Amino acid sequence: MSFQLGEQIIKKLNENGFEGFFVGGAVRDSLLGRPIGDIDIATSATPDRVLKIFPKTIPVGIEHGTVIVRVDHQSFEVTTFRKEGKYSDYRHPSTVDFISSIEEDLKRRDFTINAIAMTLKRDLIDPFDGQKDIKNKLIRTVGSADERFKEDPLRMMRGIRFVSSLGFELHSATRKSILCNNAYLEKIAVERITSEFEKILLGDSLKSGISELRKTKLYLYLPGLSEEMEALVKYASLPHLASSNVIEHWALFCYLAKIEGIRQFLKQWKLSNKKITEIDTLYQLLITTNNDINELMIYKFGLGTLQSLNRLKKTIGRNHYQESELENTYASLPIKSRKELAINGSDLMKWLNQSPGPWIEQLLLEIERAVVNRIVSNEVDAIKEWISWRSQFGTD
Ligand code: CTP
Repeated sequence: MSFQLGEQIIKKLNENGFEGFFVGGAVRDSLLGRPIGDIDIATSATPDRVLKIFPKTIPVGIEHGTVIVRVDHQSFEVTTFRKEGKYSDYRHPSTVDFISSIEEDLKRRDFTINAIAMTLKRDLIDPFDGQKDIKNKLIRTVGSADERFKEDPLRMMRGIRFVSSLGFELHSATRKSILCNNAYLEKIAVERITSEFEKILLGDSLKSGISELRKTKLYLYLPGLSEEMEALVKYASLPHLASSNVIEHWALFCYLAKIEGIRQFLKQWKLSNKKITEIDTLYQLLITTNNDINELMIYKFGLGTLQSLNRLKKTIGRNHYQESELENTYASLPIKSRKELAINGSDLMKWLNQSPGPWIEQLLLEIERAVVNRIVSNEVDAIKEWISWRSQFGTD
């Protein structure tokens, strides 16, 4: 993403007599010299005006003032300057008042580093000294920390997420306030907590993030973690998991914490079944395999999973392979999936003159194993011969 396309939106708002500013994470990340993600624009135009001005819009959160504007297949969140009333559900304010000043809008934001607006000419509006906090690497709430955290308790997790991902520190008053308000996290939907926790796990400064979870005792309100602080500390002290993904992080943590009933533990975090299965598979491989990764394993679990396993073994100091060794082994497999087998289930039924049943799956598995282990080549005649030999002499 770049600000250039967003400029078109601000220009058009200006042409229609409205103000528009870049705000939020994109401004923060550009000041930090980091790649920017989604671009948010704050405007004095009300949502119905935004809908009229732009030809391609998606009214995602009109009641909170947000419209998505599409330009060149990219989405921009355009939100009317607003001030928030009471938060009755700790997530959305029950009333939203649209206002006319950007300064007022910046006041309702979570942290000073996220409360900087940028004009079309790249001038900054920074009433809470966000740039100074960026320079000093500080996470500090805008105004009263207690108020900001009570409005949206997820902000406590966001603050620690920024510690972990940016390598910043919590300002002492902000930290103290999290310690006082940590129990409010229970009001927040687990999925939102999980999303922030995963960003903490993936942060370059994970150690600082975990240390802040401990200092603020926020970990007490994370699913299944109230007894697991020591495991979290151990986990954060391991060498950084280079180029790892979140699946590896979960599997490693569960391994270190010796989590019993891993699927149950992960369910508490409301992870998808697909993700739970991926983490569980990796975890089971980590606890059950010795140090050998063989061709059959690479075939069965796929290169990605085995690369993950290999990285985890390296991290915990077990024997591991060079990445290139695994890649070469995978590249030289006689087949990479069942689809590549020269024969299929119908061939088996025809040759053996048998009706369908579980035996087909069983035999296909045996054939795959024999082909991958190079006992038989992946050719129709060779496999046919191997099957008749096998039925005469058995597989042992
Ligand atoms: N914001 C807030 N309180 C929240 C969430 C967001 O005040 N609980 C404000 C902040 O000013 C934030 C902006 O809304 O910068 C945009 O929020 P979002 O896109 O969720 O996060 P970013 O700060 O942009 O960070 P990232 O993109 O890294 O998630």
